[in-house]
Amino acid sequence: MWNEGLKTVEKSQTLLLNEQSRNIEGTGREVFKFGFGQSPFPPLDAAVEALRLHAAAKDYTSVQGLPELRDHVAAFHSECDGVDIGAEQVLVAPGSKVLLYAVMAAFEKLDVLIPSPAWVSYAPQARLLGHRPITVATNFEQRWRARPEAVAAAVKEKADSRVPSLLVLNHPGNPDGLSYTGDELIALTQEFRKHNILVISDEIYGLLNHGGAHVSLAKHYPEGTIVTGGLSKWCGAGGWRLGVAMLPTDLLGAFKDTLLGIASETYSCAPLPVQMAACEAYRWNDATRNYLAHQRRLLSRIGQSVAEQLSSADVRVHPPTGGFYLFPDFSPYTERLLRLGVDSSQSLCARLLADTGIALLPGDAFGLPPGQLCARLAYVEFDGREALKASREIGLDKPLNTDATHAIFAKTLRGARKLTQWLTSL
Ligand SMILES: Cc1ncc(COP(=O)(O)O)c(C=O)c1O
Repeated sequence: MWNEGLKTVEKSQTLLLNEQSRNIEGTGREVFKFGFGQSPFPPLDAAVEALRLHAAAKDYTSVQGLPELRDHVAAFHSECDGVDIGAEQVLVAPGSKVLLYAVMAAFEKLDVLIPSPAWVSYAPQARLLGHRPITVATNFEQRWRARPEAVAAAVKEKADSRVPSLLVLNHPGNPDGLSYTGDELIALTQEFRKHNILVISDEIYGLLNHGGAHVSLAKHYPEGTIVTGGLSKWCGAGGWRLGVAMLPTDLLGAFKDTLLGIASETYSCAPLPVQMAACEAYRWNDATRNYLAHQRRLLSRIGQSVAEQLSSADVRVHPPTGGFYLFPDFSPYTERLLRLGVDSSQSLCARLLADTGIALLPGDAFGLPPGQLCARLAYVEFDGREALKASREIGLDKPLNTDATHAIFAKTLRGARKLTQWLTSL
């Protein structure tokens, strides 16, 4: 009887894909794990050292997070994003995912505007809470960016204008690896103001903008932006579970109290040793800037190379500007794929994995229609520790030479070639 009356939550595509990949690996074949988006880099040395030092710290902390850490996060983001954030605006939690969920959970009723494609968890979170996800359409030609007209069109789909609207924006983006320019954000901001839209700006990849040129939405829409981030991506520490949210000052009253109420009734606080380690990570000093600069140039190099390889085989793809993903569009191969019985992003990924051992995540997991032949490619199958070491040995004043690039990224480059060979052989 306890198997009835359950909520519908589909198993995440990422987990399914990992299972399939493991099965193939079990048969001794090589698998290219381009489906799994985890940072390949080790956490910042100073943070690892601090975690070691504070492993015995065991107390619960305040629900909002250690005051010292909130000071660090506020100063860090004020500096690197050119915004004015105070410690009272910062919430610390075990990962930013629960913070996204808590923000949505704060509302009795909510329309959640989600660009398509977008990260896999936004829509399921909204549905779990009984909220209505509304798609903000984007397309390849528009670099998968939400445009003001698309936001206006999504607002028109609201069934009841009294229900508050929350839009989730994510840049640099997962699955697309693309950022918004300042001008694009300003144009969007006009629409947000016009329709009273609260925005979660998921900037978890912000510090991995390849050119170090991330523009936070909070700069242009301070009164209506909740910025989320954390250590998972730029600090290579997804499993540490340390996320942050930065609230607009207008929301420091009832809204913040509701969030803290949800936090105290669910996760209580982020792990204390990790918060203490995060105090070391959130220092905008030479060590952190150097660590970021090496990651960015490594990610940029391999991202550009894979994008070039795909483009050379007529796959439609935008060269990435941040993070570690590409979102190729295989539609130029539609006819040839149809002859194989491939008519959806799911069947495309299944066939590709079976034929070549290359794992990609299908576009429908990111909210695209099933028949649109797009997939996410995470170009992180390399040894991040070795890559950082090699990049540091070369120094930032010299470019990564071809030999070093080939040595560091051998498997990813081989996988990208294999993918294009498969396509051209169809
Ligand atoms: C776009 C995006 N947002 C949020 C998250 C969640 O990150 P966290 O580890 O902080 O919960 C991820 C992780 O994959 C992500 O890709």
